[in-house]
Amino acid sequence: MTGQAIGVFDSGIGGLSVLKALRAAMPHEDFIYIADSGHAPYGERDAAHVLARSRAIARHLVDQRVKALVMACNTATAAAIALLRAEHPGLPLIGVEPALKPAASLSKTGRIGVMATRSTLASDKFKALLEMQGSSATFVLQPCDGLAHAIERSAETGETAETIALCTRYTQAMGQFGFEKGQIDTLVLGCTHYPFASEHLRALLGPEVQLLDNGEAIARQTRRLVLPAPVANDQTEGRVQLLTTGQPSALQAAAGRWLGLPAGGGVLTV
Ligand code: DGL
Repeated sequence: MTGQAIGVFDSGIGGLSVLKALRAAMPHEDFIYIADSGHAPYGERDAAHVLARSRAIARHLVDQRVKALVMACNTATAAAIALLRAEHPGLPLIGVEPALKPAASLSKTGRIGVMATRSTLASDKFKALLEMQGSSATFVLQPCDGLAHAIERSAETGETAETIALCTRYTQAMGQFGFEKGQIDTLVLGCTHYPFASEHLRALLGPEVQLLDNGEAIARQTRRLVLPAPVANDQTEGRVQLLTTGQPSALQAAAGRWLGLPAGGGVLTV
């Protein structure tokens, strides 16, 4: 890659949902995407593991001279963004967190489901975000053990039974969805893997329950930080370098299926 790329990372393929929004917002930018699949999932690991992995990956991307770093992972953002900001003060660093505020303004019933990893929901950062919402709505929090991992596997094999079974179990545990008083009408997807299960969630909950993720908001924020003025006459399509610390097959399959990217991608040891 010639110009400076934007670095993006996640524990695995989930951050591709953010990368998709980033590419739509900035089609001429180059991206380096790292899936830390060799050390995933993050969501059921302790914060020290996620912090150490986030630091190692950020260091690698900074060494590649990225011009901005997008933490396309709610779990890593909760565990590590404060420290990474302190370690890389000059670098625009964009994190992702569950879309509670947009959900509160959209919900009519005032009852909102939040699906996220156990680690995100237990973090101080999430607790502070929840407190900031005050009494604007009632949030029903659902840790979704195993769901990110099931989505990774389904990307590789096309086999969706486990993903559907987990989506069924977790949405049932949250209670009634619908538009009557006391029902959940809005569902926050608080893990970047979950947008890739949207079609299953819609089939379970009906087409009108609103599913919210933060991909587009992150893309807008990143664009504001890295593209103060649009680049005139640049019609070249940006390139994407895909790297993984695990087996490339899931990443390649997901990038092909969900983003239409050509096969390719390397293995990274960090
Ligand atoms: N995609 C990640 C997130 O947004 C976490 C998945 C995992 O558990 O590794 O939280």
